[in-house]
Amino acid sequence: MKKFSIAMLSMVLAGSMLLTGCGNSAPSTKDDTGADDAQQPQQTEGTLIMGTNATFPPYEFVDENSEVAGIDAEIANAIAGELGMALEIKDMEFDSLIPALSSGTIDIVLAGMTVTPARQENVDFTESYATGVQVIIVPEGSSIASPDDLEGKTIGVQSGTTGDVYCTDDYGRDHVKQYSNGALAVAALVNGQIDCVVIDNEPAKNYVAANQGLKILDTEYVVEDYAAAIAKGNTELHEKVDAAIETLKENGTIASIIAKYIPAEG
Ligand code: ARG
Repeated sequence: MKKFSIAMLSMVLAGSMLLTGCGNSAPSTKDDTGADDAQQPQQTEGTLIMGTNATFPPYEFVDENSEVAGIDAEIANAIAGELGMALEIKDMEFDSLIPALSSGTIDIVLAGMTVTPARQENVDFTESYATGVQVIIVPEGSSIASPDDLEGKTIGVQSGTTGDVYCTDDYGRDHVKQYSNGALAVAALVNGQIDCVVIDNEPAKNYVAANQGLKILDTEYVVEDYAAAIAKGNTELHEKVDAAIETLKENGTIASIIAKYIPAEG
């Protein structure tokens, strides 16, 4: 329980959690505004290559046009616009994102990725642009009411996520079943193969809305910061992206992108 207890907050999620997200109109994944072209020196070829894992609505999902859409796609598009660059998005396994950064296959990760000290050994994180909360999804009527009840249970997670790391630390590898994405973990929960799923709150709300008979526990949560990741040593890009995020926070762009996908609660 150590990981859970350290940062845990008791919060009540007010009211029912209505969702949203998946049907929203697609942002373009190419940026052609080029507003600041004249002043901004171009980074490499002028295309910012973002890696993500588009199984994480409303941060990233594949829309009806088979394009990666969602909060991260739109924020990355806005960052690329600030940098005077085009944006290209590569959709890959979550576990492959940090290796792809290190090998130079991609320039940046926006994937609802939580800033953790372990990841900071391998990559650098920009300023945070959003907050996430680890929650527990259970079937309605489950005997699990809080993280204390997870001892000895079988917990589904997306492989390589913070949910995976925390649960493995706290309950042991034998009790944690890894899936390549959250939807598969939730499908296993619906089929009775596992007892619960630990995942970030916003995707959790989407998954629960898409399936009957599930609920999110409203007891205790781990709060995390999401940030973009950049290869260690790529300080030029890091500084530019931090400045872009700062601008996009100040001018309200990031808040309005988030509000488009996540209606304010309460
Ligand atoms: N916030 C969690 C983490 O960083 C989960 C992120 C999963 N993101 C995704 N695009 N599938 O580990």
